[in-house]
Amino acid sequence: MKKRVAILISGRGSNMTALIEAAEAKDYPAEIALVVSNRPDAAGLDRARSSGIPTAVVDHTLFGGDREAFERALDQELCQRRIDLVCLAGFMRLLTPWFVNRWSGRMLNIHPSLLPQFKGLHTHRRALEAGAKRHGATVHFVVPEMDAGPIVAQDSVAVHADDTEETLAARVLELEHHIYPRALRAVALERDSETWKAVSREDHAPPKS
Ligand code: GRF
Repeated sequence: MKKRVAILISGRGSNMTALIEAAEAKDYPAEIALVVSNRPDAAGLDRARSSGIPTAVVDHTLFGGDREAFERALDQELCQRRIDLVCLAGFMRLLTPWFVNRWSGRMLNIHPSLLPQFKGLHTHRRALEAGAKRHGATVHFVVPEMDAGPIVAQDSVAVHADDTEETLAARVLELEHHIYPRALRAVALERDSETWKAVSREDHAPPKS
């Protein structure tokens, strides 16, 4: 049986789109059963609707700073749709340990760096400033600590001498669109963590060309 997946977004949703497109394949082990945004104006919502995917908005501004109340409302949406796995894709809210522990082992995030390097924001700028030779993206299980948790997939690109934050971000984003569907496939198939490590190592191999 296909795993029922919810994607949580806050913005444009290009990773969400990559997951939706991957899940259209008959043999993909997951179906996108719900897209939730904390922002009513997130562009990704229209994209999800145009694919006929149920959407929900849980607007964090309506909870007066009560993060757990916001998360209980979010959790309710997920439970109503009998969600098995959650994918964070540009979801710009920090989650409390309550929510993270509730979805422990069932929630993935994509981060635009080669974790554990460059946790947090502005990863491309910081990679350039640090003179990194390679930069990339990571899909990992979500744990209470931000941008930590077991890595499911990781891939990298070379940093070019003339890269700007924008050109580097664009190249990494393209990578993200490949590794997130691959990581979700691995998790939906309930492969064990040894296999995830192998997926990660394979992604670290130098490009074949
Ligand atoms: C991506 O770079 C992702 O790695 C980060 O937020 C960005 C979201 O982009 N967590 P999009 O909304 O998926 O286009």
